[in-house]
Amino acid sequence: MVILGFESSCDETGVALVCTERGVLAHALHTQAAMHEAYGGVVPELASRDHIRRIVPLTRQALSDANLSLANIDAIAYTAGPGLAGALLVGAGTAQALAWSLGKPAIPVHHLEGHLLSPRLANPRPEFPFVALLVSGGHTQLMRVNGVGDYELLGETLDDAAGEAFDKTAKLLGLGYPGGPQLAALAQTGDETRFDLPRPLLHRSGFDFSFSGLKTAVLNQVQKACKAVGFDRADASVLDDQTRADLAAATQAAIVDILIAKSLASLDQTGLRRLVVAGGVGANRRLRQQLLKACDQRGAEVFFPPVELCTDNGAMIAYAAAERMNAGFCDLIEEQSHAFTVRPRWPLSELGSSSTDDLGRVSLT
Ligand code: KG4
Ligand code: ZN
Repeated sequence: MVILGFESSCDETGVALVCTERGVLAHALHTQAAMHEAYGGVVPELASRDHIRRIVPLTRQALSDANLSLANIDAIAYTAGPGLAGALLVGAGTAQALAWSLGKPAIPVHHLEGHLLSPRLANPRPEFPFVALLVSGGHTQLMRVNGVGDYELLGETLDDAAGEAFDKTAKLLGLGYPGGPQLAALAQTGDETRFDLPRPLLHRSGFDFSFSGLKTAVLNQVQKACKAVGFDRADASVLDDQTRADLAAATQAAIVDILIAKSLASLDQTGLRRLVVAGGVGANRRLRQQLLKACDQRGAEVFFPPVELCTDNGAMIAYAAAERMNAGFCDLIEEQSHAFTVRPRWPLSELGSSSTDDLGRVSLT
């Protein structure tokens, strides 16, 4: 079975073709990062308009890369939430229109379920149950995953998400958007021990995270370093490259330490020996290296999606739809009614065995 997947929840247009037997056949992506950079964050209206421009050419590209035509597609999956309403509607509307014209089912997918299951696209593939560390720009959660659609929240961030912490501190250091990859690159030449940053909630029991205090601590350090060179305002552009790199390294080390400590604690508490990392921050090299080492020392296994599938993409959406179909959670007759809605806010905990009910679909006919 070949599934076409659309992702358009935020600032990436992702289109992919996934075969239930052969895995990812093609995966085309356009990131809007450069367009939003001037504004320091995503502008929802610009995001929606760009998705409209990109989604059809990317679909053509994916089909051509996979050497397939629309006639070869058995189902179309799309991100139905959470995300930006207008952006979600582009993927949902395109998927439904195309599915209607082809007489195929259109399957709504929860964005975080896409991230959560995406490590199963890698080889070897993690079997259920496992602990999932979901670290994206909007979410930081530890979850016990018992099977498809069976997710138990162990802990989550009380304030900023890990990706947000990367992005906000990157902004403080004068780096562009999105800050995570740029801060990680700058950290490579830095000394993480020069600045002492807090690790909020590190030693508190439970699996909740907090990152907003870290951002304030970095701001204080920037302020101090600026004062030391005769500037009253916190403006990282007056600092030398080494100081900025040292601040980046200390920030990255603090975020990674917190993520690792809570992940290991949740493995201990659940008694599970498999950890899966998903979401954009899962692309972070230091996080990957240190988790591999820490899990190896404990006799636990850690799984990551392929790096290019850590950040938002269409393959994870098509794959999650495949897993849901395989688990018998898709009513393919209902999916052919082509009535749809999107859910900008949609807690993963509300995702049960039936996507149809959870979506509270309304008919647009
Ligand atoms: O999952 P994702 O692509 O989008 C959301 O669903 O939010 O995650 C994006 C987040 C951004 O905050 C970005 O800065 C972060 O992932 N990110 C990274 C890296 N690559 C992406 N953070 C740290 N290191 C990276 N290499
Ligand atoms: Zn995401």
